[in-house]
Amino acid sequence: MLFDTHAHMDDRAFDADREALIAGLPESGVALVMNPGCSLASSRNADALSRQYPHVYAAVGSHPDAADEVNEDVLEEYRKLCKLNPKIKAVGEIGLDYHYEDIPRDIQLKAFRAQMALAAELDLPAIVHEREAHADGMAVVDEFPAVKGVFHCYSGSLEMARELVKRGWYIGFTGVLTFKNARKAVEVAAGIPLERLVLETDCPYMAPEPFRGKRNDPSKLYRMAEKLAEIRGLSVEEVHRITTENGKQLYRI
Ligand code: NI
Repeated sequence: MLFDTHAHMDDRAFDADREALIAGLPESGVALVMNPGCSLASSRNADALSRQYPHVYAAVGSHPDAADEVNEDVLEEYRKLCKLNPKIKAVGEIGLDYHYEDIPRDIQLKAFRAQMALAAELDLPAIVHEREAHADGMAVVDEFPAVKGVFHCYSGSLEMARELVKRGWYIGFTGVLTFKNARKAVEVAAGIPLERLVLETDCPYMAPEPFRGKRNDPSKLYRMAEKLAEIRGLSVEEVHRITTENGKQLYRI
């Protein structure tokens, strides 16, 4: 059985078939799902889904794309949601995205720091989205040594992944692992300790081969497991067992 450690089941891409899809996941081999929030609105939806389905967990947070909404009122809403729902297991997804700079870097950094502080205060792991912001991402991690978590859809170097692992963090891999040009992701997946590695779809995005470009969903996570088994020379069953255990450790489930 697999653990999809990062799936946006609240995304509108699933509006037509969300219920059937989530209810059918255990049958398709996915025992657990973490649904992170991307904004206050999406965090509320993630909270609701985790209350509705026993195999769905949630996180609350504002993505770098929504960094400009983060203020004391929003942080207080996240605090309240966490206190009311024990199935909220992380703060996320939060972080930095310097690829699209619709939100200025200083605003992204301020929101990231405020939400890392929230994770420290609530003693929850953080789900970090970091794209083309490696140096600033590591700098903020080092400002909050009490906070551990996962760098999801990891796009950094093997060297940086090893630095994160040293600090107690996990590294998340998406369908990118299965792409033909995925040399970097494969190198990282081969080079870090197995017990720090988690699998995710990041659906509805990042569908693995042979579904690339199509809508992604947790039932396609088996492809990442097959690829990881090949990279690490393990059986698919071992990869399922180990990565599911890692996901549970990460989110303290
Ligand atoms: Ni995401």
